[in-house]
Amino acid sequence: MAALDGKIALVTGAARGIGQAIADQLAAAGSDVALCDLQTEWLAETAALVTAAGRRALCYAVDVSNAEAVQSAVNAVEKDFGRIDILVNNAGVTKDNFLVRMTEQDWDQVLDINLKGTFLFTKAVCRSMMKQRSGAIVNVASIIGLIGNAGQCNYAASKAGVIALTKSTAKELASRGIRVNAVAPGFIKTKMTDKLSEDIRKKMLEAIPLGRFGEPADVAQVVLFLASDAAAYVTGQVVTVCGGMVTA
Ligand code: NAI
Repeated sequence: MAALDGKIALVTGAARGIGQAIADQLAAAGSDVALCDLQTEWLAETAALVTAAGRRALCYAVDVSNAEAVQSAVNAVEKDFGRIDILVNNAGVTKDNFLVRMTEQDWDQVLDINLKGTFLFTKAVCRSMMKQRSGAIVNVASIIGLIGNAGQCNYAASKAGVIALTKSTAKELASRGIRVNAVAPGFIKTKMTDKLSEDIRKKMLEAIPLGRFGEPADVAQVVLFLASDAAAYVTGQVVTVCGGMVTA
C-alpha cells in the first residue's frame, strides 16, 4: 500500500514549480488531488501528471488572498471529493525592492497572498478536519523567513508570519488530530527564481554547501513525508530544504 492511499489532498499554487511537483508526488503516493491556482486552464499540465499516476484531479480557480473565493473553493472540493485529508499552502509571490523603494501595494500584496492566503485556507479547511478528527497541513515557508534578506522585507515578513502561524495552529489543532508543519526551501529552480540575475545566482550557489540549486522535487519529497502518517508524531516543525544553507 502506498503512503497516501485513499487520501484527498488540496494543493494551492499547483499550476507550476514547487506546487506542481508536490501535486505530482502526493498523487504518486496514492492521493487524489484538488488543484488550486488563479486560473483553471493553467492547471492542465499538473492535472495530467496526477491522472497519469492513476489518481483523480480536479481544478479550481481561486485567489488565495480572497476570503470568499477560498471558502467557495473549499466548499466545492469537499462536495466533489467528500473530504480533505491534506492541505498544502504553497501559493506565493515575490515583489522585491529595498525598503525605501517598496510601495505599500507591494507590501500588501505579498502579505495578502503568502500569509493571509495561508490563514484563509487553513481556517476554511480545518473545520471539516476538526470534525473528522484528522488532517495534515503543510505550509510552504522559506529560509528567508528565518534569516531575512536585503530587498525582500515584505517576503521575509510574510514567510516569518507563515512560520509563526504554523507553530500556533499546530498547538491549537493538535488535540483535534490535525498536524501542521512547514517546509522552508532555500534556492529552488522555478519561474520564481528564473528572474534573478546571473550575479545573484552565482553568489547563492557559493553559499550552498551541497553545491547545487534545489529542484521542486526536493521540496515535494519533504512535503510528502510531513503529509503522511510517517510523520505522525511531528507537528509545529519547520524543515529546511536548502542544501545546507541554513542550519538551525
Ligand atoms: P512559482 O511562481 O513558480 O509558482 C507559484 C504558483 O502560485 C503559481 O502557479 C501562481 O499562479 C500561484 N499563485 C500566485 N499567486 C496566487 C494567488 N493569489 N492565488 C492562487 N495562486 C497563486 O513559484 P515557486 O517557486 O514554485 O514557489 C512556490 C512556493 O514556494 C511559494 O510559496 C514560494 O514563496 C516558496 N518558495 C520558493 C522558493 C524558490 O526558490 N523557488 C524558495 C523558498 C520558498
